[in-house]
Amino acid sequence: MVKNVVFVAPFFLETTLRFVAAAASVPGIRLALISQDPVQMLPAELRGRLSAHRRVKDGLDPDQITVAVQALSREMGPVSRVLGALEELQVPLAVVRRRLDIPGLSVEAARNFRDKSRMKDVLRAAGVPCAKHGLAGTVSEAKKLAAEIGYPMVAKPPAGAGARNTFRVEDAASLDQCLRLTPPSPAQPMLLEEFIVGDEHSFDAVSIGGKPVWHSLTRYYPGPLEVLQNPWIQWCVLLPREVDHPQYNDIRGVAVQALDALGMGTGLSHMEWFRRKDGSIAVSEVGARPPGAQFTTLISYAHDVDFYKSWANLMIHDAFSPPPRAYAAGIAFLRGQGRGRVKGIRGLEQAQKELGHLVVEARLPRQGQAPASSYEGEGWVVLRHPETRVVQEGLRRLVSHVQVELG
Ligand SMILES: Nc1ncnc2c1ncn2[C@@H]1O[C@H](COP(=O)(O)OP(=O)(O)OP(=O)(O)O)[C@@H](O)[C@H]1O
Ligand SMILES: [Mg+2]
Repeated sequence: MVKNVVFVAPFFLETTLRFVAAAASVPGIRLALISQDPVQMLPAELRGRLSAHRRVKDGLDPDQITVAVQALSREMGPVSRVLGALEELQVPLAVVRRRLDIPGLSVEAARNFRDKSRMKDVLRAAGVPCAKHGLAGTVSEAKKLAAEIGYPMVAKPPAGAGARNTFRVEDAASLDQCLRLTPPSPAQPMLLEEFIVGDEHSFDAVSIGGKPVWHSLTRYYPGPLEVLQNPWIQWCVLLPREVDHPQYNDIRGVAVQALDALGMGTGLSHMEWFRRKDGSIAVSEVGARPPGAQFTTLISYAHDVDFYKSWANLMIHDAFSPPPRAYAAGIAFLRGQGRGRVKGIRGLEQAQKELGHLVVEARLPRQGQAPASSYEGEGWVVLRHPETRVVQEGLRRLVSHVQVELG
């Protein structure tokens, strides 16, 4: 029987549209789209593959999404899936599914993944190693927590993304500064965490009915917060070929425990974790959604599959066949130096000569492009090779050759 599937994509961001297009290609379904952006903004080809569309004023509002899904089910027949890739959508979508009795991640579980303070409470209760933390609704609570947690700390919003408003807090003076900059309130509390010193990684897993059936992982060079604090750093992410290496046995065990405690259902999850100098690990945060920052593209290249389609098929048909991994893959984010718009790129020729054979996809910053505010910079280059160390070294050389000038 043909399934009716509703994809919620408030804004037509490039990555979001890759997921929508992937869903449109899943066999045995009719796909409807709910968006805040007007459907006319969609590429014509993709628009032609949609069976229906509803526009809402606020694409993150569960009430408006509910009404739109009800209207779509009157038009198409019963809806069997409601999905979306955006982090901010996961709780609203769970609320919609609960109201309309549509299978998928529960509201409780979606909240565990969305609220970082609640997440750490759940993880710690389950014995999963993670940073000490506390939620401060007032300035005095923040100071009290600081005394318990100790410096250095990290201050962040409990439902942040893109490391925005995330700060390293060195001492009492920098806590004062941070409290002045983003004063906490009971409605907008501040999450304080013990600062974990170590290497940062991801653990990206496919689960079916709460059971992890496949995983991938990456290493960050360096962690996003350090990238943000140092404007000259061009962030790199390496997806090693040997994800089943014994050095990852510990995170594999801990990740399964963490996903189970949080209530993962069927889907792709993105976990971030640290390895401290002494070898111990700590889980940082987990999203019940596909990773950002082109990770889905990296996973695709490492396995020679379209992982956007694998995700869509998983979400719609609860099915996934683990692909063999033939490559390591990595991404270097090209980040402008200075102020202003993109003026030019230096070092491309040298990089092309040395590393061109490793490049599988690139988005080079365009002259005149507006500067990015995120640690992902203005462009990227994806490398791939059967040997992990070739990709690792390639990334290092790439970011040392290529310089994006702003001005
Ligand atoms: N307890 C911690 N100790 C050390 N570094 C931390 C800690 N918490 C966060 N960070 C750093 O800050 C970054 C952003 O934090 P976090 O992942 O919680 O926020 P986010 O807004 O969800 O980020 P993103 O969307 O970039 O994943 C992390 O990737 C890490 O580099
Ligand atoms: Mg994060």
